[in-house]
Amino acid sequence: MDAPPQEFQELLAVVRGYQRSRAVTVAAELGIADLLRDGPRDVDELAVATGTHAPALYRLLRALASIGVFTECAQRRFDLSPMGRYLCRDHPLSLDPAARMFGADYEWRAWAELAHSVRTGGNAAVHALGCDVWEYRRRHPGHGELFDATMRTSSHADGAAVLAAHDFGRYGVVADIGGGTGAVLADVLAAHPSVRGILFDRPHVVAGADPVLHAAAVADRVSVVPGDFFAEVPSGADAYLLARVLHDWADEHALRILRNVRRAMAPEARVLLVEAVVGPPNEDPAAKFLDLMMLVSAGGRERTEDEWRALLAGADLDLTAATRATAAKHVIEAAPTASRGV
Ligand SMILES: C[S@@+](CC[C@H](N)C(=O)[O-])C[C@H]1O[C@@H](n2cnc3c(N)ncnc32)[C@H](O)[C@@H]1O
Repeated sequence: MDAPPQEFQELLAVVRGYQRSRAVTVAAELGIADLLRDGPRDVDELAVATGTHAPALYRLLRALASIGVFTECAQRRFDLSPMGRYLCRDHPLSLDPAARMFGADYEWRAWAELAHSVRTGGNAAVHALGCDVWEYRRRHPGHGELFDATMRTSSHADGAAVLAAHDFGRYGVVADIGGGTGAVLADVLAAHPSVRGILFDRPHVVAGADPVLHAAAVADRVSVVPGDFFAEVPSGADAYLLARVLHDWADEHALRILRNVRRAMAPEARVLLVEAVVGPPNEDPAAKFLDLMMLVSAGGRERTEDEWRALLAGADLDLTAATRATAAKHVIEAAPTASRGV
């Protein structure tokens, strides 16, 4: 029998993909990358430092080295590789929080219930955890911090592309609604010294904003406002930025948020969404797997441009532009319907 074609190998690799993901998560949980910062180390030393079983740790690390996450040197020593550097916790684009967040038990429990979502359309995380992921992370602050840090990394990673996709310098005040710990707003203000900002998110989330805003030297231009976007959002901004917020919510909830934004806006103010725009059939895995993540974890969805237009229209907002920044991020601009032609 002939060797199976490449498609067979590709599908098999997808089927077994969770094994690689799990291995990276465990290496991150053990802090292996930080232990290799000063140069290669022997696996026995690493085992002592991490309280693990040396022969089993060796098998973990050589497997990860086989796919480039670490480098295996002679005599059972391991070194950082270009990929592994992103697991160091102080790297400005550290993927350590993402490895530990996506690999956290509660995320696995939610993904184990993907079939529940597919059968019922319901949110797998709520089914598995008894509450939504936001409440779960509020109750488990360690998981909340890992989520916020994961958001910071991806915001910084895509920051330049988002800034290139829209001229934020034209606004006096940008309100970042659901702005997390302020990474997106910090990038905007650092690039535009005349712009001031309002950072709005849940109280336990904005509590972590100070170091982020200070590190970017923009804290003196930001009002930090704790609150709930289902109740109300601050008025007085020229632009209302919602970065990866509405994709967390089904239409009914997303509309409630948008209508609160619309109520707070002056007629000449603008709404800016940083969101995926789902592409045509048979392509765009970045947006489409993000969409599955929304189905399973956050309980929301990714949307096509037409779906964004319809959602915005439900809050009396006209979609006026959608500019691609990265594979999974567009900047979508909207204006109050009444201001059409202004
Ligand atoms: C996917 S994160 C995006 C964070 C940030 N905009 C970014 O792009 O990095 C969604 C944010 O919505 C916030 N959020 C969830 N429920 C909220 C609520 N009821 N009121 C205000 N913010 C909320 C979360 O705390 C989280 O920071």
